Amino acid sequence: MLYLIGLGLSYKSDITVRGLEAIKKCSRVYLEHYTSILMAATQEELEEYYGKAVILADRELVETGSADILRNADKEDVAFLVVGDPFGATTHTDLVLRAKREKIPVEVVHNASVMNAVGSCGLQLYTFGQTVSMVFFTENWRPDSWYDKIWENRKIGLHTLVLLDIKVKEQSIENMARGRLIYEPPRYMSISQCCEQLLEIEETKGSKAYTPDTPVVAISRLGSATQSFKVGTIKELSEYDAGEPLHSLIILGRQCHELELEYLLEFTDNKEKFKQDVIADQEYFKPPAWVPSAEEDNDDE
Ligand SMILES: C[S@@+](CC[C@H](N)C(=O)[O-])C[C@H]1O[C@@H](n2cnc3c(N)ncnc32)[C@H](O)[C@@H]1O
Repeated sequence: MLYLIGLGLSYKSDITVRGLEAIKKCSRVYLEHYTSILMAATQEELEEYYGKAVILADRELVETGSADILRNADKEDVAFLVVGDPFGATTHTDLVLRAKREKIPVEVVHNASVMNAVGSCGLQLYTFGQTVSMVFFTENWRPDSWYDKIWENRKIGLHTLVLLDIKVKEQSIENMARGRLIYEPPRYMSISQCCEQLLEIEETKGSKAYTPDTPVVAISRLGSATQSFKVGTIKELSEYDAGEPLHSLIILGRQCHELELEYLLEFTDNKEKFKQDVIADQEYFKPPAWVPSAEEDNDDE
């Protein structure tokens, strides 16, 4: 059996009882180690807690070496651990499809994900649109396909969850070119960098998916002892120090209910200003009132 087991968001004990019981039966335990991190536990702490060795699975192993992960999984139990939920944001469908092709049974043990835990900032999960990912810009690679998705969400009034890039076990271009297996230290995108990149692309595109004054919610270390939220405009949070990773950002949509706003006001010292920013943004992005065409007018007569 291949078990895909969600670890939850922060602590080693966030794993479910069913997940832990499954691990205890497994002969090999892999921890997916490139899309998120378990903030309050190290590999050694997990090994001690599970009573099993944990093999770190980087992108290369998961994407090109899945045969290793699935080896003998038709005869013995293998666990593939994912921080958050195995199907939250990054889905590991490739691995599941491959297991199914090889007639290996698969069982999924779910857990909390950033995708649902963001609800703790007070915004209704029902009023979120497409989630987008913001990657680190480089000198000559500044991808902006997320921009149109934000625009589409905002057009129909929905909030946008922005997940931020993580770089683990990356090689510099020079080391890659020279075939040297030297890896850069891990990097995690911060709220301020994400806001700066948002501002840069709005300036280049100019389609007004949002403005520097659009209200956003900074989410830091969800589910950990130091979880925190901060609200402000994109411009303001481009200078905000959110501390240690992990970070995510929510761009507010026009459908911000008064109870959502009341909850968000807890996360600023300048409540009146934030309230005015939200009202101004909602006015600015309000669709024009519907006016019937001359034809439709005539139909009515
Ligand atoms: C590709 S997603 C992986 C999601 C994970 N599988 C889950 O279900 O939660 C990773 C990104 O989600 C966001 N994220 C994940 N956990 C977070 C947390 N506890 N607090 C804030 N942001 C988080 C960060 O932007 C991070 O770079």
